[in-house]
Formats: sequence, C-alpha cells, structure tokens
Amino acid sequence: MAFYRAPRGTQDILPEDQPYWHHIQERIHGVAQLYGYRQLDTPIFEDTALFEQGVGETTDIVEKEMYSFLDKGKNPITLRPEFTAGVVRAYLEHGMHVRPQPVKVYSLGPCFRYERPQAGRYRQHTQFNVEAIGEQDPAADLEVMSVAWHLYEDLGFKELSFQLNSIGCPKCRPDFLKVLVEYYRGHIDDICDDCRRRLERNPLRLLDCKAESCQPIIDAAPNMREHLCDECAEHFQTLLGYLDSLGRPYTLSHRLVRGLDYYTKTVFEVWAEGIGAQNAVCGGGRYDGLAEVLGGPPTPGVGFASGLERVVLTMKQQGVQVPTLPSPQVLIAHLGEQAKLMGVKLASDLRAAGIGALISFGKRSLKSQLRQANRQGVAFALIIGEREAEAGRVAVRDMAQGEQHPVALEDVTTWLSQRLG
Ligand code: HAM
Repeated sequence: MAFYRAPRGTQDILPEDQPYWHHIQERIHGVAQLYGYRQLDTPIFEDTALFEQGVGETTDIVEKEMYSFLDKGKNPITLRPEFTAGVVRAYLEHGMHVRPQPVKVYSLGPCFRYERPQAGRYRQHTQFNVEAIGEQDPAADLEVMSVAWHLYEDLGFKELSFQLNSIGCPKCRPDFLKVLVEYYRGHIDDICDDCRRRLERNPLRLLDCKAESCQPIIDAAPNMREHLCDECAEHFQTLLGYLDSLGRPYTLSHRLVRGLDYYTKTVFEVWAEGIGAQNAVCGGGRYDGLAEVLGGPPTPGVGFASGLERVVLTMKQQGVQVPTLPSPQVLIAHLGEQAKLMGVKLASDLRAAGIGALISFGKRSLKSQLRQANRQGVAFALIIGEREAEAGRVAVRDMAQGEQHPVALEDVTTWLSQRLG
C-alpha cells in the first residue's frame, strides 16, 4: 500500500530530538537578552518582489530556490527564503527609525529554499536571525558576531572560527569588479559553465564557485580587500582591531562573498569542527544599502543568521550533551471499574496541583501496567486495586527502591509534592 512521506528536503523533528531544540532555543533567548536584542516575528510569506529586490534578482536564491506562487487573489507570494528582507521591511513599515538606534532584533522560524537536499541542507530549515539596524559603527559588526560566538560557546562547540572578508561598497566595488571581470576574461576557456554565466550576471559570485577546475583561478584572483575605498578599509581595520582585542580567531578569505546581493563591507561566516566548510553554521554581514533598495531612507544594518538544523548536527557530531526534558514522574495503575474511576479523578487532581501524571488506558494486568511504568521511567507508580478502592487509599510504589507504602487518597498530592520537590 502506498504511504506518504515528508516532502523531499524536509524533516520531522521527533520527540527524542526535541531536547536539542528546546536547549538551543532556550540559550538563544538567553544570549539575545544578554546583548539587548528583542524578538521580532515577521510573516512566513511576503510579497515576492520584496525578495527579488532585497536579496537580488541574480542570486541563486531568487533565480532558482524560492517557493513562489500566486495566492487565490492572484498576488505573487513567496515563502521566506531568509529573514533580513522581511525584518528591514518591518523596520520601515513601522517607522522604527524614530526609536533609539540601532534597533536590535532577533527572529526564529522556518525558511524555505528549493535546494538539492544533503546533510545540513534542507528545503525547509529553521533560522535564528539577528539584526542591528540603524548603526554603522564597526562595533555593531563585532556585536552581532559576538552574539553568534557566545551562543556557540554556550552550547559547547569546539574548534570555532570566523571566516571574514570585506566586499566594499557601491563606491569601491564597481572598480574592483572591472578588474575581476578582466582577469576572468583572460581565463574564459578554463572556467566552468556556471562561471561563464556569473561573469555576465553576478561577477562577485565567481569567487565562491565550488567547481574543482575553477579553484586555481580563484586562488590567483584579485582580492577585494586590496581595492577598498578609505572608508571601507578603515571600517574593516577597526573591526579586526576589536576582534584581536577579544582574542577571537578569524581567517581572512577573499573567496567569502556570500550569496545575497545586499551585503556591503563586512561579510562573515562561522565554521565549526565536524560540519564541513560547505555548511557554515552561520553567515552574515553588513547591508548598508538594503533599506534604500526597499524604498526607505539610507539606513545601515548588520546581522547574521544561523541554521538550527546545522547547530543540532554539529552538537551531535561533537558529542555535546543536552538536558533531558521534564516528563511525568507518576503513573496511576488500576484494577477494576471503581479503581479506574478513582484513578481518573486522581490523575486530574495531581495535574491540577502541577504534578505530571500518566494513567494507563484500557483494562490491563497490574504486571503490564508496572512494566509500562518502568518503560516510562516514572519515579512512582500509584496502584489502586480493588482493596485500595474499597479503603480509599493508594499503594505508592517507589520504582527505584521497589518498596510500597499505603497512602490515604486525600494525602497523595501532598505526599508526592514533598518527595518530587
Ligand atoms: P545565509 O547564509 O543564506 O544568510 O543563511 C544563513 C544560515 O542559514 C546559513 O549559514 C545556514 O546555517 C542556514 N541555512 C541556509 N540555507 C540552509 C539550508 N538550505 N538548509 C539548512 N540550513 C540553511 C542569510 O540568510 C542572511 N539573511 C543572514 C543575514 C542576516 N545577513 C545579515 N543578516
């Protein structure tokens, strides 16, 4: 018989994996609060044009990866492939420029990209996204980078490092692109088909081509950092000074250009041991021109996003332990109709008092109900047999010790509260 599977590139997060997700999300809220970032939730879908203009028409995301459709009102809609465009849209829409700057916000939720699924790459993934909007100080670049770093250190990651670059601004980048294009024209016969296309449509992306044949050409390619204008060069040097003063390790890479068109000046990624260079655990940078592209006043901004599936993967690969989630410590076992009635009422009273309680369903032998208590790992089984039901009491079995005590029904809640703390 045919049965359904989750769509390709999506995954179910089963109960046994939830401790990772709860722990990561708890740390995310904690770290964000430590740096003064407040939560902002934006819609999961936006007008398609927002991403076309914000992320850029010639990016892989917009050209190939968006989940776009016409809704029933024939409006072009896209499931968000990333947060930044929507967050800047919200900043402009709600006039947040009148608030104290920068506006520091974080978001958490699913993003959608029609990519070729592989380990750490999914069609639905979950991002933790951080933005500081309205500030051009390189100290803001340092701050968002520190939020990422702090989170990963808190989660117990080993072998963290930043990949770092500056890709300049509309003042200095066009001249660099001319030099880059000229260099690539000299190698036109040696580059891959994708790069021939990039040469025409988006030459900066030539530098992060993954094809084997293009690697020596990238190695010897001109370096944007040698073509920065004074303002961009000073911004980058100041940031490096801050990173040095904190002793944060970084690798400068002229290949790091990132896949979204809004970036200016700083771009960065974090790589962690075990997850591989193609799977950055986070990526981000500055986007000083994005607000204007979206029709707003000039507003600098900087941020990053981290894919939580990759965070979970890294934690598993690095053997990081997470706390287990709380579960009921009590199971009510019953024999006979009257006992079951008492059991149902007792379960309800215990839960009302904040004590998690399970009750077995159906009519099963005591032995089978105690086996269930064992499997569930509860601390106590509350046994109500016919005799207990008659006498209005419960036999409380301490599952670890194997001992049993009679407790009057009206005292059970207090008795358990004292023992379960
Ligand atoms: P991005 O590098 O495209 O940047 O994505 C950010 C992070 O999301 C990646 O580093 C990765 O951890 C995760 N990610 C992206 N695509 C996938 C996928 N298909 N499967 C699993 N994880 C994925 C942005 O989205 C920018 N908006 C980041 C930013 C915020 N820049 C400034 N502010």
